[in-house]
Amino acid sequence: MKTYAIVMAAGKGTRMVSNQPKVVHEVLYKPMILHIIDALKELQVDQIFVIVGHKAEVVKALVQDDSVHFVIQKEQLGTGHALLQAKDVLANKEGTTIVLNGDAPLITAETLKNLVTYHKKNKNVGTVMTCDCELEKQFGRIIKEDGKVREIVEFKDLQEGQYEITEMNVGEYCFDNKELYKALEKVTNNNKQNEYYITDVIKIMNEDARRVDSFKIGDLAEVGGINNRIELSNATKILQKRVNNQHLLNGVNIVDTDSTYIGTDVIIGTDTTIEPGCIIKGKTIIGDNCRIGPYCELNNVTIKDNVEIKFSVISDSVIENGVDIGPYVRLRNDCHILENVHMGNFVEMKKTTFGTNSKAAHLAYIGDANVGSNVNIGCGTITVNYDGKNKSQTIIKDNSFIGCNSNLVAPVTIGENAYVAAGSTITSEVEENAMAIARARQVNKPGYVSVLEEKRNLKGRK
Ligand code: UD1
Ligand code: CA
Repeated sequence: MKTYAIVMAAGKGTRMVSNQPKVVHEVLYKPMILHIIDALKELQVDQIFVIVGHKAEVVKALVQDDSVHFVIQKEQLGTGHALLQAKDVLANKEGTTIVLNGDAPLITAETLKNLVTYHKKNKNVGTVMTCDCELEKQFGRIIKEDGKVREIVEFKDLQEGQYEITEMNVGEYCFDNKELYKALEKVTNNNKQNEYYITDVIKIMNEDARRVDSFKIGDLAEVGGINNRIELSNATKILQKRVNNQHLLNGVNIVDTDSTYIGTDVIIGTDTTIEPGCIIKGKTIIGDNCRIGPYCELNNVTIKDNVEIKFSVISDSVIENGVDIGPYVRLRNDCHILENVHMGNFVEMKKTTFGTNSKAAHLAYIGDANVGSNVNIGCGTITVNYDGKNKSQTIIKDNSFIGCNSNLVAPVTIGENAYVAAGSTITSEVEENAMAIARARQVNKPGYVSVLEEKRNLKGRK
């Protein structure tokens, strides 16, 4: 039997006070909607449907995933109405359907799996996930009769005596798919908000003598919907802790968990230390025995073993074993830093392969370059890669030495074992084993200081 999932993500999220739809806001540097899709993928559901409406194109552009099907809800007339938009593609299918609020990104695959297992084991037609909450929560209340769920009453529709109910709807459900769509046909908007509520389905199923039930979880943190930016910020803190704890248990040393933000897709090896003040995100992979930080931002970086990086900002790059980087290095756009490189103190590289054992110890800009092994890049070296219109390549071959304050005007090649004298502006190829000097020759004028003084005195008398 197949399992489907529907994520309701069409709402505007008025309380976010934003020009962006709610589900694209990031929790721990990843949009809410992607957290949910990733949990569903981990669960291996057969098909994922996302109901989009407000700024649908923004949500779609962000997801870019062939296994996710989008369904448009033109007008947001409520969560029940949202589900009905998928009627044409879903209503006739045999199977189990998980329904999720799009604004609860901390839900885990494990909890969803438990929900589905419970639902199936008890042969339920509808199961609503619940949690005991503080009474201030404006969640739908679970109304029970003789211990059995009768209906869900939305906060705004609560009657006297129902406010005190602590068991509340957290907005995650599991249904027999066909029965869900049968019940949805009967949902009306006869309530305080004039909306079609998914929650009404529970009462309708009861009236039709279908088996409904609740599945209570212990930790509201996982499903507390995000409705404003305070809740958004709290969600990041909760997830930060969850992710950091997992790394700590896996043998990663995190010196200060409060100031360390590690994204959910990051992988870190054993005995690696993360110093305070790091943001590590995207598809970053860090090997064993590394020391990262203090104060690094890494995004989509692959780092092998025994690497040290301090005070640096690195994106979309690969760093091989034994490399030592920083302080103050910026690497971006597909840099590949090979084994045992030393790079530090204000160096920027872009789209550059930097060979084994090569060094750029101070103050350099190396862009669109291919640098061989055992190369020394002197302090202040610049690859002049941009002429205002086009970017050009610099090739620096093995064992060459680039003197301080050199400009390498691209396209240009420095041959193997070649020398570039300090202060040179190189505009044409330097062949292997050659030394290039491209600067004005020094002229000394002996005794010229006294001549200068005489000239000054003459001026003074005039
Ligand atoms: C919903 C539940 C409430 C529960 C709470 C838990 C209903 C009627 N109420 O309330 O019982 O306690 O979640 O957080 O479902 N959406 C659409 N289309 C719409 C309306 C909403 O796609 O027409 C989406 C929203 O984008 C959001 C989700 O559905 O992701 C939930 O909607 P929201 O308005 O936040 O529902 P709550 O009032 O929080
Ligand atoms: Ca909500």
